[in-house]
Amino acid sequence: MKIIVAIVLSFFVLFSARGADPKTNWANNCMQCHGPDGSANTSMGKALNAKDLTNAQIQSSFTDAEAAAAIKDGVTKDGMTKMIAFGGKLSDDEIKALVAYVRTLKK
Ligand code: HEC
Repeated sequence: MKIIVAIVLSFFVLFSARGADPKTNWANNCMQCHGPDGSANTSMGKALNAKDLTNAQIQSSFTDAEAAAAIKDGVTKDGMTKMIAFGGKLSDDEIKALVAYVRTLKK
């Protein structure tokens, strides 16, 4: 019995430490502004003027480090929060995976 509990617990720990895959994280946290494909063709995306992440020129306007910082710390412009910070919600590994995911959105 103890062994079963230990196995179940270690699975749980492993799973939660790994976090969700970037596609799920994108759908849960990013899509409402950036859209399913990153084009930001959503009412939130338009209202906040989110850029088209499928555009190669936009993609080259930020480095991986800048993208990770934007996801972790959010984006503010003229004292207004444009993109909320996800540092408290997503682990560094999840953020790193999301940056790689964002790069795949380029058309
Ligand atoms: C509340 C709306 C909103 C949400 C939610 C949101 N973003 Fe953003 N995001 C923005 C806006 C607005 C900008 C700033 C304009 C731009 O660069 O597109 C931005 C910028 C970015 C940038 C470009 C950073 C740079 O340096 O130019 C990346 C990459 C990004 N977001 C990824 C994400 C990811 C990944 C998520 C989910 C974890 C996410 N965003 C969630 C609105 C949002």
